[in-house]
Amino acid sequence: MRARSFGLLDRAIPVIGQGTWLIEKTPDAAVAALRQGLDLGLTHVDTAEMYGSGEAERLVARAIADRRDEVFLVSKVMPQNASYRSALAACEASLRRLKTDRLDLYLLHWRGSVLLEETFRAFARLVADGKIRAWGVSNFDADDLEEAVSLVGEGQIACNQVLYHLGERAIEHRVLPWCAAHGVAVVAYSPFGSGRFPAGRSAGGRVLADVAARYQATPRQAALAWLLRHDGSFAIPKASSLAHVEENAGAGELVLSESDLAMIDLAFPLGKPPKTLPII
Ligand SMILES: NC(=O)c1ccc[n+]([C@@H]2O[C@H](COP(=O)([O-])OP(=O)(O)OC[C@H]3O[C@@H](n4cnc5c(N)ncnc54)[C@H](OP(=O)(O)O)[C@@H]3O)[C@@H](O)[C@H]2O)c1
Repeated sequence: MRARSFGLLDRAIPVIGQGTWLIEKTPDAAVAALRQGLDLGLTHVDTAEMYGSGEAERLVARAIADRRDEVFLVSKVMPQNASYRSALAACEASLRRLKTDRLDLYLLHWRGSVLLEETFRAFARLVADGKIRAWGVSNFDADDLEEAVSLVGEGQIACNQVLYHLGERAIEHRVLPWCAAHGVAVVAYSPFGSGRFPAGRSAGGRVLADVAARYQATPRQAALAWLLRHDGSFAIPKASSLAHVEENAGAGELVLSESDLAMIDLAFPLGKPPKTLPII
């Protein structure tokens, strides 16, 4: 599994991680899949207080119980809990559900009505108290990122976790370049379109299959490699079957040629800049 530098962190993180949205639907399979993922190097585990109203964090706790130190553990605070006091309490509650004493990364899930400076003050306190190692944001457009940096300065925001897949390339207009220029990692969520992966018989699906075949890879592996073509980017597919986890981990070493990347680019056009950043 390839690993690369993750924004301001002083450690390399595997390019492919594991999502946990809706894992509570198939709890036992999901825990087994997460553990299999860890075995295969998918040690970036992404969860959130929102997922299953805390149930996803409880399942992650089961999956990582005896191997916490292997994991790059990420959780998120909901915007309605992002005031100074509520964020401190939300983090404590996540730590309790996750049965751990610290998070490696804590994110503001999306921007709400609480002032950013209040949330970021809570994050700074959590870092100082050793409850979180670093913090970042999610679903932030370039203007939000600019405002965030104006509040805390450069070198504080570890990542921006954003919607990014073959059918939704909006971040390429402003967010990706901004993050590259400011040393902020980009984590692609819903990398398979959250269940809307291009059908094999579609025009784009056929291009993906042709490219993948040149590497004895699968279309999904080619799609992950395409998402990971930018330095500083990561992907967190969610999978609740061992076969899916194995397939996803198998993309961890795959690097596509410039001409193959260009073919995929053409088959899944960038589109015009949207007025607001798409989110799920
Ligand atoms: N920050 C945010 O606002 C935000 C928003 C959405 C998501 N996220 C994070 O990003 C993670 C991933 O996004 P997502 O869950 O929306 O969707 P996704 O990862 O794009 O897609 C998940 C779906 O793809 C299937 N799948 C995974 N690997 C597969 C494979 N190799 N072959 C065939 N099917 C496969 C899964 O099936 P099985 O489960 O049956 O294996 C599941 O139905 C989330 O779980 C969450 O941690 C963050």
